[in-house]
Amino acid sequence: MALLIRNADIVNADSRYTADILCEDGVISRIGPGIAAPAGAEVIDASGKFVFPGFIDPHTHIYLPFMGTYSKDDYESGTKAALVGGTTTIFEMVCPSRDMSPADGFATWRAQAEGKACCDYAFHMGVTRFDAESAAQLREIVTREGVTSFKIFLAYKGAFGIDDAELWGTLKLARELGVVVAAHCENETLVAQLQRELLAAGRTGPEAHHDSRPPRVEAEGVHHLMSFAEQTGARTYIVHLSCRDALDEALAARARGVRVSIETLIQYLVLDKTYAELPDFEGAKYVMSPPLRDRSNQEILWSGLASGLVDTLGTDHAPFDFQTQKPMGRDDFTKIPNGIPSIEDRINLLYTHGVRRGRITLQQMVAVASTNAAKIFGLHPRKGVIQPGADADLVIYDPDYRGTLSAKTQTQNVDYNAFEGWAIEGRPSLVTVRGEVAVRDGRFVGTVGRGQLLRRSLDTDA
Ligand code: URP
Ligand code: ZN
Ligand code: ZN
Repeated sequence: MALLIRNADIVNADSRYTADILCEDGVISRIGPGIAAPAGAEVIDASGKFVFPGFIDPHTHIYLPFMGTYSKDDYESGTKAALVGGTTTIFEMVCPSRDMSPADGFATWRAQAEGKACCDYAFHMGVTRFDAESAAQLREIVTREGVTSFKIFLAYKGAFGIDDAELWGTLKLARELGVVVAAHCENETLVAQLQRELLAAGRTGPEAHHDSRPPRVEAEGVHHLMSFAEQTGARTYIVHLSCRDALDEALAARARGVRVSIETLIQYLVLDKTYAELPDFEGAKYVMSPPLRDRSNQEILWSGLASGLVDTLGTDHAPFDFQTQKPMGRDDFTKIPNGIPSIEDRINLLYTHGVRRGRITLQQMVAVASTNAAKIFGLHPRKGVIQPGADADLVIYDPDYRGTLSAKTQTQNVDYNAFEGWAIEGRPSLVTVRGEVAVRDGRFVGTVGRGQLLRRSLDTDA
């Protein structure tokens, strides 16, 4: 069925104007004044609301076997939660264990998503081992499946982490193919040493997590990646950058000509390390890596987003229950499953604490939470922009809505909300997935299984 949105205050990353939007056959077919409604079309009046291109979360973990357990959401609950929060495309990290082949890893993750995903999704293909066999399979995945980004971990040695020879091989292959390499940057040797010393000193609680991964550990990881990127010419993307020290390393490399994009997370903008210091193990809710930082980093990251130095805002959504999963590390913080769920809350927090507080503009919000990810990862202009020919993934956003975030009302499948009781000043009132209404007034009304695995384009400057 066609959908006509009248009086839309259209906000793109580089433009803002009022017009009607006609959606037919899953795409935006026309934008202009006074468009006549085709027979049978649903007509929605968007007066008083913003209309954004569907938001893109460049970093999620829906299916994640990690630290001896599995993240809680599945593709149905995770993508419903994404949509309720205004995110219409997610990027998932395919994270096979080191003894699983890339081909099996890709097939496993695809099987998790198919028939369940309610919004479109793309995969960053995790390279957790690099040898001749995996290189051949990675080539196939890139060329056959249109998966044009890799994900590597410079942390989690023995699990997902790769060594320097593997890093070199991965970046060389990425350079040759035109693939972007997304990287978790922390120096794992430093982490392991600091963890041992903290535990030996009796610091076993969640509050010690930060000191096992201080800013220099992350900055050293970034520096390391940048050195390898410089030598290979590969295009890189630093995931979940949390602090000034790491940003300085990335920007210094960028100034030398290293090809690097930078992602930060909503958690680092609105939470700080004191949350992980909450008593009675409550801090475990706030354990993730890199850790929440000293508050002084927040304004640096906000201004990085506003200035364009930081390209994207993701969630690294990794939900583990507080009652049953976080306690795996009750006596040893190194065993607390890492992650702070936020797939549902990213956009409302960004709008409330970014736009409403004057830290970023509406257009910068669209750039960092949608358009830039589409451009970096080969989805633009199909996604990330409202224009004729683009997918009709739209968010009609009500700036007059007032509400609070709570585990009691959330859609994501996890037993706590890291922002419990926080006020939000706006929310999506209607969300579409390729022209079909998927959310009305905070409730999922779409089709389970409608989400498609997206084929993406390669970096032609490789
Ligand atoms: O703490 C985090 N970030 N958990 C998810 C896995 C990762 O490192 O991205
Ligand atoms: Zn990570
Ligand atoms: Zn992650």
